[in-house]
Amino acid sequence: MRHLLSIEKLARAEMDAILAGVAPLKKERGRHTRFPLAGQTWAMIFSKSSTRTRVSFEVGIRELGGQVIFLPAHEIQLGRGEPVKDMARVMGRMVHGAIFRTFAQQDVEEFAHYAQIPTINALTDQEHPCQILTDIFTFQEKRGPIQGKVISFIGDGASNVATSLVFAAGKAGFELRLAAPRGFQPDAGLVKRAGGKIVVTEDVKAAAAGADLLYTDVWVSMGREQESAERLQQLSGYQVNAGIVRLARPDALVMHCLPAYRGKEIDEETFEAHAQTIFDQAENRLHVQKAILNWMTG
Ligand code: CP
Ligand code: NVA
Repeated sequence: MRHLLSIEKLARAEMDAILAGVAPLKKERGRHTRFPLAGQTWAMIFSKSSTRTRVSFEVGIRELGGQVIFLPAHEIQLGRGEPVKDMARVMGRMVHGAIFRTFAQQDVEEFAHYAQIPTINALTDQEHPCQILTDIFTFQEKRGPIQGKVISFIGDGASNVATSLVFAAGKAGFELRLAAPRGFQPDAGLVKRAGGKIVVTEDVKAAAAGADLLYTDVWVSMGREQESAERLQQLSGYQVNAGIVRLARPDALVMHCLPAYRGKEIDEETFEAHAQTIFDQAENRLHVQKAILNWMTG
């Protein structure tokens, strides 16, 4: 049985297999002849808000022939404290697969273990694997192989998106530069464990110089709202803006996982100048996740 729980645990060959399936699905959208989820019902259990992940999975499952039920945590017993391992054993007897967005990475792993059905991590505090697979696909769709390219992530270098990028760097073969203030940098042990070519720095300009892709994520991730004031203050020098874009390669892409907070991690002018890329990236969540579902069930 296949799961997608993290980029850390995804083998390079598995990553390649998923990515290879995306372009045909994107091209054939609306004309599919294979429906690998026919007769299946998938559950989406979400303890945090979502626009892109929710809509892209709901649409993607239907397009692959499946049914989907969306379960906000506050409407099921999970929200009243039912243990994940009990919920998992119930779900495992009723649905064919699950997509789980929550806080602790451990909860998604425990769910997969107890439910014994294909399980996808739709974002935890630790990782956002569906996002990072989409980002790699989007880069390659526009610029060719990502191997040997320089990706500069600027902002909260310890966010789930940044952490998944750290684990992806070695597997996909790109150089990752993470510019973040101390306290917002990935754990050194984690970087070592990931392997690959990774530079962690406080110097935004050095990180951006000659980059092929500038990437950022929100400064205040879901669940960190009480740290808002402190985060906005400490991360204020880590914005993707015109001055930073000028340091990158002339054809550098700017991406953002969204939702975006203009004037914080990215300025309005830069966001709108790169909106085509950013919304292609958002659209690609649908195509990449269909490839993930296909890979898991095919
Ligand atoms: N990028 C992303 O996962 O967006 P949502 O939180 O809207 O799903
Ligand atoms: N780091 C962000 C990603 C949102 C898609 C968060 O966890 O809120």
